[in-house]
Amino acid sequence: MSSPSAIPASVRWGPLRTLLRLSPLLLLAPLYAYREYHALPQPLVDLVNSETSLPQISEAQILSYAKTLSEDIGYRTVGTREHALGDAWMVKQAQDLKTQCEEAVNANSSRKLECEVWRQEGSGSHRFDIMGKRLYKTYVNLTNIIVRVSDGTEEGKEHAVLVNSHVDSTLPSPGAADDALSVGVMLDCIRVLINTPDWQPKHAIIFLFNNAEESLQDGSHLYTTQHPTAKTVRAAINLEAAGTTGPELLFQATSEEMIQAYAHVPRPFGTIIASEIFGSGIMMSDTDFRQFELYLNVTGLDMAVTGNSYLYHMRKDLVENIETGVAQHMAENTLALLQYLSSEESPLPSLTAGYSKPTTVYFQSFSYFFVYSFKTAQILYTVLFILSIALVNWTFVPPAPALKQGRGIISDNLAGIVAVGGAVFGAVLGVNAVAFVMDSVLHKPLSWFTQELSCVALYGPAALAGAFISQLFVPRVREVTVLTSMLLVQTFSAFLLQFIGIGSSALFFLSSLALFTALAVNAVVKKPGQDVSLWAYAIGQSIPSTTGAQMMYGVLEVFVPLTGRMGEEAPAEHIIATIVAISGAYALPLSIPFIHRWPRTVLKRAIVLLSILTTLAIAVFSAREPFDAMHQKRVFVVHMENITSGEQNLHVGAADSAPGFNVLAHDIAERFGVPGAPPKYVAMNDWNPEWDTIYPFSAFITPYKLDLPLRPEYMDPLEHSFTVEAVNDNIDAEAGTRKLTLQVNHPGIIWTTVAFDAHVLEWTLDKNPPAEYARHHIKEGSFYGHDVWTVDLLIKLPPSSSSTEDDHPGKIRVDFVGIHEKAMWPGKKAEKAEGGRAMQLFEELDGWLDETKGGTVDATFLGCVGGVVWV
Ligand SMILES: *[C@@H]1O[C@H](CO)[C@@H](O)[C@H](O)[C@H]1NC(C)=O
Ligand SMILES: *[C@@H]1O[C@H](CO)[C@@H](O)[C@H](O)[C@H]1NC(C)=O
Ligand SMILES: *[C@@H]1O[C@H](CO)[C@@H](O)[C@H](O)[C@H]1NC(C)=O
Ligand SMILES: *[C@@H]1O[C@H](CO)[C@@H](O)[C@H](O)[C@H]1NC(C)=O
Ligand SMILES: [Zn+2]
Repeated sequence: MSSPSAIPASVRWGPLRTLLRLSPLLLLAPLYAYREYHALPQPLVDLVNSETSLPQISEAQILSYAKTLSEDIGYRTVGTREHALGDAWMVKQAQDLKTQCEEAVNANSSRKLECEVWRQEGSGSHRFDIMGKRLYKTYVNLTNIIVRVSDGTEEGKEHAVLVNSHVDSTLPSPGAADDALSVGVMLDCIRVLINTPDWQPKHAIIFLFNNAEESLQDGSHLYTTQHPTAKTVRAAINLEAAGTTGPELLFQATSEEMIQAYAHVPRPFGTIIASEIFGSGIMMSDTDFRQFELYLNVTGLDMAVTGNSYLYHMRKDLVENIETGVAQHMAENTLALLQYLSSEESPLPSLTAGYSKPTTVYFQSFSYFFVYSFKTAQILYTVLFILSIALVNWTFVPPAPALKQGRGIISDNLAGIVAVGGAVFGAVLGVNAVAFVMDSVLHKPLSWFTQELSCVALYGPAALAGAFISQLFVPRVREVTVLTSMLLVQTFSAFLLQFIGIGSSALFFLSSLALFTALAVNAVVKKPGQDVSLWAYAIGQSIPSTTGAQMMYGVLEVFVPLTGRMGEEAPAEHIIATIVAISGAYALPLSIPFIHRWPRTVLKRAIVLLSILTTLAIAVFSAREPFDAMHQKRVFVVHMENITSGEQNLHVGAADSAPGFNVLAHDIAERFGVPGAPPKYVAMNDWNPEWDTIYPFSAFITPYKLDLPLRPEYMDPLEHSFTVEAVNDNIDAEAGTRKLTLQVNHPGIIWTTVAFDAHVLEWTLDKNPPAEYARHHIKEGSFYGHDVWTVDLLIKLPPSSSSTEDDHPGKIRVDFVGIHEKAMWPGKKAEKAEGGRAMQLFEELDGWLDETKGGTVDATFLGCVGGVVWV
């Protein structure tokens, strides 16, 4: 019998004892990393520090602003009365600060300080492509509130930093974190700055309290294209939220200077990985930062609170759900940025190069913030790659003849690379097999939805099992060979990815630094007859167990809640499973050399054990419900009054792949619809006007259409004044064109959308409409009480033979919809009596949903009016 362990058993511990020996690192490092990743500062209450008598950031103050906006004023959806109240409140805050500013100057005449306030009002239009759809926004009399803090001189105002937050909130949400929190942060920053006795800005700070972001960035478009101060902006800082907990994340940073500026904040939290993930468009969201890039052509920093993203755009985005310390973190970081950018050392005057693709690597690790250029990165990673080859070459010992005859260094490491690659492939395959079982066999997808990291319990063992099973199919390799080939793979990946301009390659650089050190130490400390010392494991795992674990937390905390809004079609289960496999492979790489430390029987036992664990996990998870009261299912309900057909319908849709929505739609139809009429499943596409108010996000919705019982008293007299018509209509038969103004009158109706098919040659929306016959969607957003908008069109007349409908030669069919300003639930709950039948129905349906679903559903109810007209 040829034993693989020629070493006496007494020298080596068994696999379990060895694991036990390593367990402090394996368990404590990720826990420590977790705490570190989520650490927040102590929140402060007092406005002034009692020891220094200097003003300080007060979380209590910030949250009181956020509470006023989100609860006293309420849902500040663009076009509603509450939105106008938010505007008025904001003007008052700005004026109060201006008064404080003047008092500070009166108290100390040598202080150079000036605060100017504007309430900007204006109209405009812009193209806004999102989620692969072409879309146009037009807006009437929307507003922004602007405060400029400067030293009062022309030179001081020449170069300014812009800081932006939005006062409005989205349709289904009171928007406490998104974005009243940021509004509060900016207000408190102004207070601290102007009340600091010896502070005066060398460069101006422009605070933009933007009052229309959720209507697709109209406010920032208005500011950037029309405000007199816009041309002085050299850099932009955007403050946002897509969640309610954890430190504020820097997720877009677009110049080295601004990244260096960020290095001045007390608690940096951001990495180029977040930026590259966001930049890929996979998040399906966008911020005002886009307008600053497009129309101001400046660089800057985009930051958001992203933890607990379950509450993003939900009813429960309330102050009580904002984690303690979040406001303090956000405000102290913002304040430090503004102090630096307005100071003598500020890079603002030199930031004239405009926006271009960023070429700086940055990440924070254990409260250090690292910044280096792509050029430096390329040199570093190349050097490490070359050093790794040297190290592997230097430490190479030919395999024992018993194991493999005559394998040289290259073939030995090639075999190792096959093992390492096989393990990653195996892990991905393993988790996807389990995902298939959960989704397609057991019909229990999203079982991990309520807790971001719980999917690791379901897919972690499967990933490891898959990785280990793959090792049965690869050539036998030595433990040390797996390590050396892993080092080569990682350093080469860092080198290659950086070469093609991917800054996230820093991840491979970091983990390979640990591996490199591990192998170098191993060469010195390993005992005779031993391949790899346990020290090598401790060192090699150090970075993966911390940085790798943090990457896993970050990615899962964003993507798990996202699966609740990515639509029924998205393969959510497989996406999450694959994320666990890939990030797990990064966080626990040394599991592969470790399994090769032992005889084959250990590998086989480990596979059996992991398979049992996976089976148990499947059993436990398939008994779980996907949603609960704080991690709700998103449901959209549209009550449509069709002016053209006289029908009233209810449209219901969900945005996730959890099963059972079909049954829910039937239950709703049975209870609220026409008796005996089942709900109809509707295909979602660009010709689906019922859902145009939320186009193009409607693409994520699985809709059902229900007939409502028709009663004359349900008909709302308002709708008859909602009209779309062609005015100034002129046909130029010779040129084959028609010139018209499309005029939409929408008293009492907001967020109107028109959609039509035409070959547009020119229009007032932008300079280059597509040069073909196509479908166009134009969405409007206007200030409360403004109820007319127009667009001028020059269209190509269709050849008379191909006229779409004989009844309407040469005419365009326009689908139009809008929302009753008084029929939005729960936003308009307080004045439900004015919302008519739709609001009564919403109240009943909401109560019924709450009762039957135990509070696990958050439904948005929109009372819409729509129709069709040929113009
Ligand atoms: C609103 O905008 C229009 C142009 O779009 C402008 O004529 C008008 O003065 C603005 N203000 C108000 C209060 O209507
Ligand atoms: C008055 O303002 C100047 C300039 O900012 C500052 O240096 C000085 O400390 C201030 N004096 C007092 C009493 O706050
Ligand atoms: C921004 O400015 C830079 C430098 O002036 C220029 O190269 C670039 O094309 C500009 N980008 C846009 C979108 O205008
Ligand atoms: C209204 O009814 C007409 C005629 O049935 C239909 O073509 C149109 O799509 C409906 N529009 C909406 C918004 O429901
Ligand atoms: Zn927002």
